[in-house]
Amino acid sequence: MHVAVVLVSLGGLASCAVGNEGEATAGLAVPADYRVAFERINARAYGSELGPFDINLFVDDPAHAGDYAKIHPETSGSRVTIAVGTAIVREVLDLDHQVTKLTLMIKGPTGYDPRIGDWWFAVTDPAGMPLPDDRGVPQVGQLTACHGCHLPRASDDYLFGVPAVDVTSAL
Ligand code: HEC
Repeated sequence: MHVAVVLVSLGGLASCAVGNEGEATAGLAVPADYRVAFERINARAYGSELGPFDINLFVDDPAHAGDYAKIHPETSGSRVTIAVGTAIVREVLDLDHQVTKLTLMIKGPTGYDPRIGDWWFAVTDPAGMPLPDDRGVPQVGQLTACHGCHLPRASDDYLFGVPAVDVTSAL
């Protein structure tokens, strides 16, 4: 059930926003079992820069994870360019380390959103259901509300990455 919802919501959005269903859906689907299917970038949950809560970072594919692991919030200018189709899942945890929500970024095809490196954004519940914003609009797609903090990270493909000390030794 959850898998279907996630695939429909992401695939449906991608096809409407990008207008090329085959290409977009192939690269823009996040499975509900990302915790086992994706590569975990950080060894242990660590504190977010944005508040008193911990986070985990996952990337869809081992080939993509290597590039993402080269980006760190404490430095800039890695000049890494993330491959089209790469999906990044950021888990937001509560004090008991239960997942409260996910924030997602997926690298869309060239031209999807040139303002910010063609990144697609979303905020979802732990099962991947998009959460509404203050006006009740589902938070998926070309979310300009997300751009502000990520834009200054242009020399790192608009990403913060994981602090070097927190990157798993497997990468
Ligand atoms: C107030 C600044 C700010 C805003 C606004 C913001 N982010 Fe971020 N984002 C960050 C920071 C800082 C990190 C690094 C991780 C952390 O410290 O939590 C991050 C990391 C991420 C990551 C992990 C990828 C990476 O950059 O390494 C995702 C996914 C993400 N944000 C999605 C979103 C989405 C979706 C929105 C809009 C709903 C958003 N962000 C808005 C500051 C922001």
